Amino acid sequence: IKRIGLMTSGGDSPGMNAAIRAVTRACAYYHVECFGFKRGFQGMIENDYLELNARSVRNIIQLGGTILQSARSKEFLTEEGRAKAAANIKKLGIDAMILIGGDGTFRGGQALFREHGIPVLGVPGTIDNDIFGTQYTIGYDTALNTVVQAIDKIRDTASSHNRLFFVEVMGRDAGFIALNSGIGAGAEEILIPEENLGLDRLLNSLEKSRRSGKTSSIVVVSEGDKIGKNVFELADYVKENLPYYDAKVTVLGHIQRGGSPTCFDRVLASRMCVKAVELLLDGEHNVMVGMMNNRIEACDLDKALKDKPTINKELLRISDILST
Ligand code: F6P
Repeated sequence: IKRIGLMTSGGDSPGMNAAIRAVTRACAYYHVECFGFKRGFQGMIENDYLELNARSVRNIIQLGGTILQSARSKEFLTEEGRAKAAANIKKLGIDAMILIGGDGTFRGGQALFREHGIPVLGVPGTIDNDIFGTQYTIGYDTALNTVVQAIDKIRDTASSHNRLFFVEVMGRDAGFIALNSGIGAGAEEILIPEENLGLDRLLNSLEKSRRSGKTSSIVVVSEGDKIGKNVFELADYVKENLPYYDAKVTVLGHIQRGGSPTCFDRVLASRMCVKAVELLLDGEHNVMVGMMNNRIEACDLDKALKDKPTINKELLRISDILST
């Protein structure tokens, strides 16, 4: 392997810059050339790239976002788009591509390999933590801390005004962010897609909280939850049924994707990306690097895409006990 291509794709996540730095520096260490494509697959289609060296990634480990930028390329979803991207990679003499992103990014990588024989290696970078084969994805820890800090602030005003707040968090179809931030911020209820507890239970629980002397409450709602109402409808429904509650809604939105990565995410990105380069040098490809039990391991990319990680149901029980 003489030349490695690199890109960040899909929703950005804090720690992607630490990942870019680690790939670039590991390449420099092993005397491999490193080319970074801009805006994910779109940059590959447009042949928009830059040559990276150890110095071009200085002072970025602490930055949120991604210096290579990211995109969800529509053109890459077409056969012609993928053919253009593959032709550019081949013309540049790139031996393998490191793709930093989530499942959409890895699916794109699978197609590049199947249709054009380009070896790919996935690095899981998404705040959602919804990738099989790793216990942590890059950016998840930072997003959790961002959410917890935001809810702490909401709690200040909630308790000053005796209010009930519904806080919607990201996570797409997965409840990892909601469940863990909910426990970390001491939420009274946590609604996640994996476990639809139903509206009755929510009303009962809020009524019980009220009776037990709580004057304010926080309910964390995952954006993908399956209760059948969006967060605003949910707040209205609770107000109708429990009129003594002054209910408000906060949608945290993209604030969860920004900010300086936590030390955990920086170290995770660094470890995963050194391993990614080393795996390619050892002749591996079509795998994803993941962290399992504090070890960085390779997981077959097809398997990573086929299976879904499961939430730890024990956390729901913990939340239940602690919101008494
Ligand atoms: O996958 C990361 C994520 O932030 C999800 O949590 C969310 O559903 C989605 O991306 C939002 O995507 P976009 O930034 O394209 O609106």
